[in-house]
Amino acid sequence: MKGPVDSLLQALDGHVPNRTPIWMMRQAGRYLPEYRALREKAGDFLTLCYTPDYAVEVTLQPIRRFGFDGAILFSDILVVPHALGVSLTFEAGEGPRLDPVTSLEALQGLNAELDATKIDRVFEAVTRIRAELPKETALLGFCGAPWTVATYMVAGRGTPDQAPARMAALNDPVFFTALIDRLVETSAQYLIGQLKAGADAVQIFDSWSGVLDPEGFRRWSIDPINRIVKSVRAEIPDARIIAFPKGATLPGLTDMVLASGVNGVGLDWTVDRKATRYALGGRCALQGNLDPLRLITGGRALDEGIDTLMEDFHGAAHIFNLGHGIRPETPIAHVEQMLRRLRG
Ligand code: CP3
Repeated sequence: MKGPVDSLLQALDGHVPNRTPIWMMRQAGRYLPEYRALREKAGDFLTLCYTPDYAVEVTLQPIRRFGFDGAILFSDILVVPHALGVSLTFEAGEGPRLDPVTSLEALQGLNAELDATKIDRVFEAVTRIRAELPKETALLGFCGAPWTVATYMVAGRGTPDQAPARMAALNDPVFFTALIDRLVETSAQYLIGQLKAGADAVQIFDSWSGVLDPEGFRRWSIDPINRIVKSVRAEIPDARIIAFPKGATLPGLTDMVLASGVNGVGLDWTVDRKATRYALGGRCALQGNLDPLRLITGGRALDEGIDTLMEDFHGAAHIFNLGHGIRPETPIAHVEQMLRRLRG
């Protein structure tokens, strides 16, 4: 257990921390020259993920440079389908390519459980990162939510509105339900493994929940996340869990938090902060939600965005973050400007 200096865990435990904890989604990545150098040395993105020496180093890079309050394990949400036996490649500048899984037969051809030779390397990285991090820095593990991972598995790549998975859910609910069920079970095991290896909390990324209609959101986003939370807490009762249903409406966010009992909810930059705080402020930590484009722009757009945000969340159990991942073109000087503004 960590001491009271750990502001991020304080917020997740429902307290208003003495200072606002700060981290950024995708904080280890291409905007950092030291990341680009190691990525080139590794040659391949998945080699970075599965080589503990590299994964540890890349996770620590933004902590050394910026002293964030949270470190997020360097990996990818698509490690889960990969460990289920789906072929996966990352072409530079093109995003992920997977062998599409579009039928019950194809699903039955995959592994029933995650391939230990892959995920044990991730767990080893978690243990080593925890040992190397300052004790007041929280270590976050993560997985993709079943819906978001399924969108990539069905299409074999990212698409503008994930129509292939939405169509599969409508046309072939037997297949799609079986796919989601497999992802619920394996993602829960994956998070349990990360928590046992030393992660202080875990985040479930549902980056594509915003393309679902309200019925779909309940069925494919809220329900699977709920089941993951229940399974993880059955094994680790005090597990700290953050859900990030990107693009969710306030009623959707509220339903998710009340149903699942997560410790924190990630907010994208479009949410109304005051209304969200009014609805959920006493229920869980609120994480977010600076528009990543303000960070690219810098100057007054950045300072004003931060000031308004901090005023809206003043006195709440708030974890500062962006509303989505930092983009590769973001100047490092703007991250420094952001930290000066936040830390005063
Ligand atoms: O946040 C962190 O710093 C931890 C590492 C992390 C990565 N991906 C590293 C990564 C995390 C938490 C993720 C999550 C992830 N991966 C999500 C959910 C969050 C989100 O951004 O919506 C999704 C949808 C993916 C799938 C994925 N991985 C895509 C679509 C891409 C290509 C787009 C891109 O940004 O290049 C990736 C590749 C990826 N994952 C990179 C990194 C640093 C870039 C790979 C490279 O170095 O070439």
